[in-house]
Amino acid sequence: MSNKTFYVTTPIYYPSGKLHIGSAYTTIACDVLARYKRMMNYEVFYLTGLDEHGQKIQQKAQEAGITPQAYVDNMAVGVKNLWDLLNISYDKFIRTTDDYHEKVVADIFERLLAQGDIYLGEYSGWYSVSDEEFFTESQLAEVYYDDAGQVIGGLAPSGHEVELVSEESYFFKLSKYADRLVAFFKEHPEFIQPKGRMNEMLKNFIEPGLEDLAVSRTTFTWGVKVPSDPKHVVYVWIDALVNYITALGYGQDEHGNFDIFWHNDDQHEVLHMIGKDILRFHSIYWPIILMALDLPLPTRLVAHGWFVMQDGKMSKSKGNVVYPEMLVERFGLDPLRYYLMRSLPVGSDGTFTPEDYVGRINYELANDLGNLLNRTIAMINKYFDGSISTYAENVTDFDGDLAEIVAENLADYHKQMNAVNFPGALEAVWNIIARTNKYIDETAPWLLAKDESKQEELAAVMAHLAASLRLVAHLIQPFMMSTSNAIMEQLGFGLNFDLENLSLASMPAGVQVVEKGSPIFPRLDMEQEIAYIKEQMAADKTTADADWNPEEVELKSTKEDIKFDTFDAAEIRVAEVKEVEKVEGSDKLLRFRLDAGDGQDRQILSGIAKYYPDEQELVGKKVQIVANLKPRKMMKKYVSQGMILSAEHTGGLTLLTVDPSVPNGSIIG
Ligand code: MSP
Repeated sequence: MSNKTFYVTTPIYYPSGKLHIGSAYTTIACDVLARYKRMMNYEVFYLTGLDEHGQKIQQKAQEAGITPQAYVDNMAVGVKNLWDLLNISYDKFIRTTDDYHEKVVADIFERLLAQGDIYLGEYSGWYSVSDEEFFTESQLAEVYYDDAGQVIGGLAPSGHEVELVSEESYFFKLSKYADRLVAFFKEHPEFIQPKGRMNEMLKNFIEPGLEDLAVSRTTFTWGVKVPSDPKHVVYVWIDALVNYITALGYGQDEHGNFDIFWHNDDQHEVLHMIGKDILRFHSIYWPIILMALDLPLPTRLVAHGWFVMQDGKMSKSKGNVVYPEMLVERFGLDPLRYYLMRSLPVGSDGTFTPEDYVGRINYELANDLGNLLNRTIAMINKYFDGSISTYAENVTDFDGDLAEIVAENLADYHKQMNAVNFPGALEAVWNIIARTNKYIDETAPWLLAKDESKQEELAAVMAHLAASLRLVAHLIQPFMMSTSNAIMEQLGFGLNFDLENLSLASMPAGVQVVEKGSPIFPRLDMEQEIAYIKEQMAADKTTADADWNPEEVELKSTKEDIKFDTFDAAEIRVAEVKEVEKVEGSDKLLRFRLDAGDGQDRQILSGIAKYYPDEQELVGKKVQIVANLKPRKMMKKYVSQGMILSAEHTGGLTLLTVDPSVPNGSIIG
C-alpha cells in the first residue's frame, strides 16, 4: 500500500434541478485531480454526492406530489447517470439521507450539545403564518417602517402579512473558536486558494466578530432530527459539511478510510474543491466544527469561479443554460472535459460561449493535437513501414531545443497540477504540442527522406515525434482518457502509462504504429455547430426560473457591506450641465459648471476627458452628482465641489444621465 494519500471532494450538490455545466465543472475538476494523483502513485479517495435535506427539497417534492425521499431517490439516479456519462472516477457517492450519515450527524450534534458548544436559544425573524415561512427583511416584498425608521412589519413575497416571531433554535458558539481559526489561517497561508480570499474571510466575517450560528430549525421536518429534542432538525449546512468525514467512516464502528485519509501532512492531503459562493461555509463553519470535534483540519480549500454566460448567470428563464449531456452527445466527452478545464481561469469567473467551445475543438484539439498525430503516424508508415526506431538524443540540430522546451513544460505541468491550475497545466501541454509541430517544419522530414545519407536523421525525427506524442498522451490522460488512450494505441505503445518517470527518452523501443491512424477529433463546421448549441440552449428555456433561490445566493460586490446609514449620508442630486471645458495643463480633467437646483452654480472637475473627446455634447445633459462631498482643490487652482457619477465598463466610461423631465436638484436615493 502506498503511503502517500490524497482525499479529494466535490461539494455535495442539491438535487433540486438538473445539473448544468457548472456542477459538471467541479466534478470533472476533482476527477482530473484524482486521476492525476493516482498516476503519481498516491492512494486516492474521491468523494462526491448529494445534499438531500432541507426545506427547498421538501418543497420541490411537495410540488411534484411525492415524498421527499422518493424525490431525492429519483434525482440521485439522474446525477449518477450524468457522472457515468462524464466518466467520473469517484470512489464513493454519499447521500445525506444514507442511514449511516444521518446517525453520525445526530451523534455529532448531541456531542456538541453535551460539550456546551451548542446551546438552546431564540431565533427571531419575520414570519408569515399563511406561508409557514420565515423571511429576512431583505426578502420581504414590502417593508413597513415607523416614523423613526424602524421596521415594524411587512408583506411576504406571497402578499401575506408577516409578523416578528421568535422561535426556539439551537445555536453554535462559533465565537469560542474564532481565535484558533485566525491562528490556523496565519499558520497556513496556503489553506485557501486563491490566496486573497483568506483575507476576505478574515476582514468580512471573522474580524467583525463571529455571530453564533442557528444550527436547528423547527419550521420544516425534512432533515436529521435532533435526538434529544426531535421537533428540531439539524441545519442543512451542518448536515452537509460533515459528509466529508461520515463518508470515510468517522463515528462508525468501521472507520478504515477515515484512519487512512483524514490526515494533513507532507504525505497526506485533504482537498475540498468548492465554488466561491460556498467558501464562507467551508473556511469558517467547517474548520470550527472540526476543531470542536478535535479533528485535524483539511489541507486546502480550492474555491473556483463560476461559468457564466455572456448575458450573465445561467438561468432557465433566460434560456442560456448549457447541459453537459447535449455537448457530450454532439461532440463527445473529451472536448467537454478539455473545454471546461482549459477555459475557466483560476479563481475567477469564465464565460461559456458556443463560439469558444467549437473554436477550441477545431483549433486546439483537431488542428494542433489531431494533426500532429495524423502527420506523425502517416510519416512513420511512409518512411519506415510503421516501425519507430529507438529514441536518440541530439541527432538533428533541433533536438536539443525540443528536448529543452519539453522538459521545461513537463516540470511546469506538474507544478500547475499541484497548484490546481488546470488552464496552466494544459497550456504547458499545448506548448509542447506547438513546439513539436514546429519541429516538423524545422526538420522537414520530406526533404530528409529524399536524401539517402539522411536516413539516421529521419529516423531520429520520427522517434522524437513519437516520444513527444507519447509524453503528451500521458499528460492529458487525467483530462481526456480516450484521446490519450487512442494516441498511445495508434503509436503502438499500448496503455502503459508511467507519469512519475516520464521523459522523452523513457519511450520504449521496437514498437510499430497502426497502419492508418483515424482522426481523434473530427473537424467541425463552425457556423453550423455554433447554431446547434444556441438552439439547444434556447430549447431549454422556461418561463419560471425554478432554480432561483435568493436566500442561497451570496451577493457579489467588490467592496465590503455597508449599513444603510452610510449610504444615506451621501446626498446625490440631479444636476444639469451648463458649461464644460477641457482643463488646461491636464489631459484627464474636464471642468463642469452645473445647476444642482439650489440657486447657485457649482463647479466640478472630473477625470473623464478621454471618454468624451467631444465634451460639448454633454452640455444640457442631466447628470447625477454627489452634492455633499467635501470640496477639494485640484490643479492648485480649481475647487471641485462634488463628484459626477459615472459607470465604468469594458467599453469605457459613461456618465449617468437622467431623463430630462426630472427637475434639477431632485434628490436621488
Ligand atoms: N449543497 C451545497 C454544498 C454543500 S457542500 C458541503 C451547495 N450545492 S449547490 O448544488 O448549490 O452548488 C454546488 C456547487 O456548484 C457550488 O460549489 C457552486 O459554486 C457550484 N456551481 C453552481 N453553479 C455554478 C456555475 N455556473 N459554475 C461553476 N460552479 C457553479 O451549494
